[in-house]
Amino acid sequence: MREVVVTGGGTGIGYAVAAAFAAQGDKVTITGRREHVLREAAEKLGASFVAFNAASPVAVQEALAHLPRTVDVLVNNAGGNTNLDRQKREDDLMDLAEAWWANLNANLLSAVLVTTALLPRLVKGGRIISIGSIAARGTGSGSYGAAKAALESWTADLAAELGSRGTANVVAPGLILDTEFFRGRLTPEGVKHRVDSTRNGRAGTPDDIAETVLFLASAGAGHFTGQVLHVNGGAYLGR
Ligand SMILES: NC(=O)c1ccc[n+]([C@@H]2O[C@H](COP(=O)([O-])OP(=O)(O)OC[C@H]3O[C@@H](n4cnc5c(N)ncnc54)[C@H](OP(=O)(O)O)[C@@H]3O)[C@@H](O)[C@H]2O)c1
Repeated sequence: MREVVVTGGGTGIGYAVAAAFAAQGDKVTITGRREHVLREAAEKLGASFVAFNAASPVAVQEALAHLPRTVDVLVNNAGGNTNLDRQKREDDLMDLAEAWWANLNANLLSAVLVTTALLPRLVKGGRIISIGSIAARGTGSGSYGAAKAALESWTADLAAELGSRGTANVVAPGLILDTEFFRGRLTPEGVKHRVDSTRNGRAGTPDDIAETVLFLASAGAGHFTGQVLHVNGGAYLGR
């Protein structure tokens, strides 16, 4: 039975990833900031939960006491486009800086801090899988895309740092429905626009991502490291 930690595992993609590992009989710990969301999800999953802000060094340090003593698989899934929660006021440099910090904190720092804190607990052959985004390779998503691009760059270094000790990869989804990502504001036109850019003519599901994460965590994927897996129906061709 493996020890699996999924950040942001209370909703959306993270929940599906946690459910996929739990279905394999692994011991799963989900994290996130909202305790009530985690409690409900953990009950359904038969998982443990630890509530903390993954982008806060102090909170991550404190959470360590409650996280598993050994980690086989870490899934850095916590994140999202923080601009969706903000009023745009980019004429104000302070506001602009705060908007960029928020996306870098949510999507890059969260993974860097949790990974660094748990690295001493990673077993030999351990797996670190971070959820990036098609936004890292496209245009138009500003600080969110830049933060996910930085996540890819950091993962390349992490793979080298791990060496033969384990693997580090990014799974980069395209549009995935049935998550809280768009805060309920994605219009049918917004969905159509994104689906039209795929080769297979459909949106992605949280399970599409969970299956890819399971593969990267599987015994057969041990030679797969420092890579970005694009799961987007061909909307971006990672060749
Ligand atoms: N949905 C898509 O179309 C799509 C596409 C490409 C990439 N992604 C990426 O996929 C990942 C999962 O997103 P999702 O679509 O499943 O959306 P979601 O349902 O909003 O899930 C994001 C999860 O991350 C947690 N989280 C966010 N910031 C956190 C922080 N600072 N500390 C701890 N937990 C935090 C949230 O819980 P709390 O709010 O309770 O903390 C939430 O459970 C994200 O990294 C996102 O950028 C999504």
